[in-house]
Parts: sequence; structure tokens; C-alpha cells
Amino acid sequence: MFVIVGGGICGLAIGWRLAAAGRPVTVLERGEAGRGATWAAAGMLAPQAEAEHAEEALLPLAMESCARWRGFADELLAASGIDVDYRDEGTIVVALDRDDREHLEHRFDYFRTLGLDLEWLSGYEARQREPCLARAVTAAIYSASDHQVDSRRAAAALKAAYLAAGGILREGVAVDEILVSGNRVTGVRAGDEEIAAEAVVIAAGAWSRNIPGIPEAARPPVRPLKGQMIALRMETGNPILRHVVWGPGLSLVPQVYFAPKSDGRLLIGATVEEMGFDTGLTGGGLFELLRQAYEALPGIYELPVDETWAGLRPASRDDAPILGPTSVDGLVMATGHHRNGILLAPVTADYVARYLLDGEVAAAMRPFMLDRFRRPVEATA
Ligand code: GLY
Repeated sequence: MFVIVGGGICGLAIGWRLAAAGRPVTVLERGEAGRGATWAAAGMLAPQAEAEHAEEALLPLAMESCARWRGFADELLAASGIDVDYRDEGTIVVALDRDDREHLEHRFDYFRTLGLDLEWLSGYEARQREPCLARAVTAAIYSASDHQVDSRRAAAALKAAYLAAGGILREGVAVDEILVSGNRVTGVRAGDEEIAAEAVVIAAGAWSRNIPGIPEAARPPVRPLKGQMIALRMETGNPILRHVVWGPGLSLVPQVYFAPKSDGRLLIGATVEEMGFDTGLTGGGLFELLRQAYEALPGIYELPVDETWAGLRPASRDDAPILGPTSVDGLVMATGHHRNGILLAPVTADYVARYLLDGEVAAAMRPFMLDRFRRPVEATA
């Protein structure tokens, strides 16, 4: 029996792969499956637009996962009957004033050194693609290969596919302890119940670090990073946006983004806040989101508010995911996905499941194992 702690997109996707391979698997979810960071996510598949300095190692994995998403969405539709709203219009990153434009030029030059496939647009060209963008948009970058899905539909599809493949899902079950004997995981304890397992996968998002029983050497350095979001409702048949759009930001909202969904919701995100496990909404957070969104897309002023919420990104110490085996036999990581949980779900599922089924550590997963945090810092004389 495999036990997966956490029923978010990655836990369910790994479980689906294992169940589809005919192996017994149980996902234990402390709340409701798919209602944590997955529920909160905008669903952007944006390895290029979200590329950051000093995160170059992540780019190939992120690009690979993005390329797999269309097939993953098709597979999910076939297995669950649920369309995850995969949209491939691409992504536009806009600049509003001289400062933004210089920053965008700097990013564009950097992106080119990475060999990314991006196009520079004038403000006029950006508005030709998205006519409702503000007149103040002076320049933009277009990425034809950064896409999006509806993360809530993806979670629903994965849950259905996982159950249909024979996986067991237990919701409302918090794991109180990871059971370890010698240097080997033997199972988990939830309340008075002990569940034996040949391997335990930690896919518990922001909670992954704090689960009792994980030996100190295998405790993943993951912390919650709060993101407040708002959804507006676009006019039926006349959406104000079709592409994912990124704008500039400040302090609480480092880069505002818009993710228009086919059901008419326009998701606007997100704050980035170190607030522990607090998921409260604040006037300042929502104000900053709307203020910055309004500057790029003034037409939002008239749109009704559909929903507001906050989620917790599981941020690792270097912002990259933590995947695969650890120094404790049978204890396996699938956590720390930070801003990229939806994007990285297909590769996380495939590589972690391959390890569990065959013992194979894929070369692409190797740099993201937990042991990278235990290596001594190399001298740079
Ligand atoms: N990937 C978007 C966010 O984390 O807000």
C-alpha cells in the first residue's frame, strides 16, 4: 500500500498514476481534496512569464511540464469526463510607465539569454491583441507557449480519475504521525488508527514541514506564503480579456495578473505575504490588487465581484519543488511547489510515480531532491 499525505493536485495526480498502474494507494486529506492551494490557484501554466533570475534550474522542468499539460488535460477528460478548460491563447506581460518598460526590457534581454520564445510588442500591438488594456500600456512581451487551466476543474477531474482507477480517498483525516522504524517508513498514524505503507508521499503543501514523526534530516524546508485573490465576472459572450495578462506591481502585489476563464470569471492575483497560516482577507490586500489591476485594465471598474479568497503557497527555501526519495527509506517528497503547483503537476506525478513503481530517479527530478538542502555550500574563490 502507498499512502499519500495531501489531496491537492499533486497528491491526487501521483495517486492516479499509481492506481492506474494497479497498485493499492490511499490519499489522506485533512480537509477536502483539492480545496487547499489548488483551489486558490489561478491555474497559470507560465514557465516563461514567471521565469526568475536565479531560478534557471527550474526552467527546463517547468517547460517540460507545460508541454505535457495538453496531453494531461486530454487524458483527464477521457478518464473523468471533466474538461479542465485548457486555454492556449498565450500570455502577455505589460509595462505601464518608463520604469516598467525598462524593467520589462531588462527581463526580455534576460529571457533571450535563456533562449525563450517571446515576442516584443509595442503598446499599440498589445492593444490589438487585447483592446481593453489601458492606453498607459506602452510595451509588452508576448509568450505564445504560456497557457492556463482551471485549477478547480483540474482537481475535480483528478479526484474523479483517481477514484475511477481504484484509488482510496479519505477526506477529513489528518495525519498525526509518520511512522518510522530504524531508517524506514512503516506507515502513518491518524488518531488511533495506524495505516501500514511501503512508502509514504508527503504532498501536504504548506503543512508538509510540520507533520510529526518526519525525522529532522528529512523535514522539508517549506513554509506558507499567503496569496489573496479576487474573481470578477465578465460580461457573458463579451469577455474583457482572452489572454492571461501580467502587469507590474508593488510591495504586497509584486506582479498583478489576470486569468480569464471560459466560465466568465476573471481571476486577479495575487498578494505575496509572509503571514504564517493566516488566510484572512485584508482591505489593503484587496485594495492593492484592484488598484494595480485597474491601472492595466480600467474596464474592471464595472465588473461584479464574484468571489474573494486567500490560499497558501508551499514555498521551499529556494522556491523550487522538493521531489522524490529522501534519506529515510520509503519517505518520498512531492511538495514545495511555491507558485508552480498547477504547472508542475504532470511532471511531479510522472516522476514521483515512476520512482515509487520502479525505483527510478529520473534525471530531470534529481536536482529537485531534498538532499540539495543538505549539501555543504561550495566555496566560490
Ligand atoms: N502562480 C501565481 C501565484 O502564485 O500567485
